[in-house]
Amino acid sequence: MTHTIPEGEIRVGVLGAFRGKAFAETAAASGMKLTCICDNFKTRLDKVCSELGVPGYESFDEFIKQDFDAVVIAAPFHTHAYFSKLALKAGKHVLSETSCNATLADGVELYRTACETGLCYMLAENYCYTRFNQEFKRLYDLGEIGYVRYAEGEYNHPMALSDSLWYAPGAKHWRNWLPGCYYNTHALAPLMYITNTLPVAVSCNLIPPMDEYGNITDSRRSAFVMLVRMDNGAIFRIYAGVAGHSCWYGLHGTKGAMEAGRGQGYFGPETVRIWHEPWTLKEGQEAEKVYFPDWAEHAEEAKATGHGGGDFFVELNFAEAIRTGKQPYLDAFHGIMMTNVGIYAWRSANQGGKWIDIPDIRDEKAQEEMLSDRLTPFPGVEGGVLMDESMLARRTFDDPKMREMAREAWKRQGYTDEEVEALFNE
Ligand SMILES: NC(=O)c1ccc[n+]([C@@H]2O[C@H](COP(=O)([O-])OP(=O)(O)OC[C@H]3O[C@@H](n4cnc5c(N)ncnc54)[C@H](O)[C@@H]3O)[C@@H](O)[C@H]2O)c1
Repeated sequence: MTHTIPEGEIRVGVLGAFRGKAFAETAAASGMKLTCICDNFKTRLDKVCSELGVPGYESFDEFIKQDFDAVVIAAPFHTHAYFSKLALKAGKHVLSETSCNATLADGVELYRTACETGLCYMLAENYCYTRFNQEFKRLYDLGEIGYVRYAEGEYNHPMALSDSLWYAPGAKHWRNWLPGCYYNTHALAPLMYITNTLPVAVSCNLIPPMDEYGNITDSRRSAFVMLVRMDNGAIFRIYAGVAGHSCWYGLHGTKGAMEAGRGQGYFGPETVRIWHEPWTLKEGQEAEKVYFPDWAEHAEEAKATGHGGGDFFVELNFAEAIRTGKQPYLDAFHGIMMTNVGIYAWRSANQGGKWIDIPDIRDEKAQEEMLSDRLTPFPGVEGGVLMDESMLARRTFDDPKMREMAREAWKRQGYTDEEVEALFNE
């Protein structure tokens, strides 16, 4: 099915005023007009709406009835498929924050809804669009390193406990239940985007957490290393959850290799290194070079937005996809395939790293099997079945010190004393 292309500016509504505020603030740069915001935390909603001068809705049902073309879903991680399906059915194009679905069944239903409506559905995976990942994509398409054989993606983003609690207000907040490998797309998506390969199997191992005395603890809130086999036989390695911040990518092909610079900064120095063995050098190629890539386009707008310019390019790609009627690379198919890698990785990690096949979401037989699988490590997933306790990565608040730290962090988020106590018991 094809969709009607809006004339003039694309009118956008934003669901979720925390991370969603960044989209709301920068929508205009990519030719979209912010029309309204939805958030069920009234204090935050009122503040953001008054700053941005748009109406706000506490109820999603009211919000989605408003007259706009597209919606940014920046609601809690495990609710994206639920809200995306409703938004598509209401005739809105959808830009969904990472990631697409919290269960395999959700993924199938979302995929089918996106196909049936023909509206634009895009995963907002901004890490694909940093300047060095865009440069890697350009080089890979030119054949600079041949065919990928091995690649590494690192989204290792350690945080002080007080900050981590600030980001996770509530005993049921998704970040307090998140198995690290579910948040895999920042590391994996750029590698898939650059090489245009698809995941076919995953093996994931947990590195158990340690207390300050070096004793291993039995929590499932652990670091992980996953290996993802791709459809051309290549293996991609992803890890996260240990000390030593690193948002970094490297790729080895049949004819050379390329990697981002290591060093200070969220993404390091954002340089690109390319190197070749003498016998793979093509005419005109240098054996090794390191440089700081230019933006291919829109340098000024990109510099003004977060995550190495990635936030701007996500919105730009979304707006262009709506205007042209051409689905973006990060469409429902690619987005759900990436998301499902994290879902299967957690199952693998809970079976000692067993390799597990990742079905193609387009395959109707696989869809039927996945439709009956609603297992999730998050509480509160619509229609979800909570995993066995032994598979949960839940953070607990029984320890009085932890409770006090959480209380302080959640108050800093704007919750009142009364609301904070309710957040422990929600
Ligand atoms: N791509 C990136 O760089 C990046 C950065 C930060 C967050 N994220 C993603 O963005 C998403 C949101 O992250 P967050 O940290 O803002 O999450 P969050 O859960 O802390 O905040 C979500 C917001 O949605 C509101 N909300 C919750 N349930 C609602 C409902 N039923 N109706 C209306 N509003 C509701 C909450 O009050 C809150 O303001 C996550 O999926 C996260 O992974 C991505």
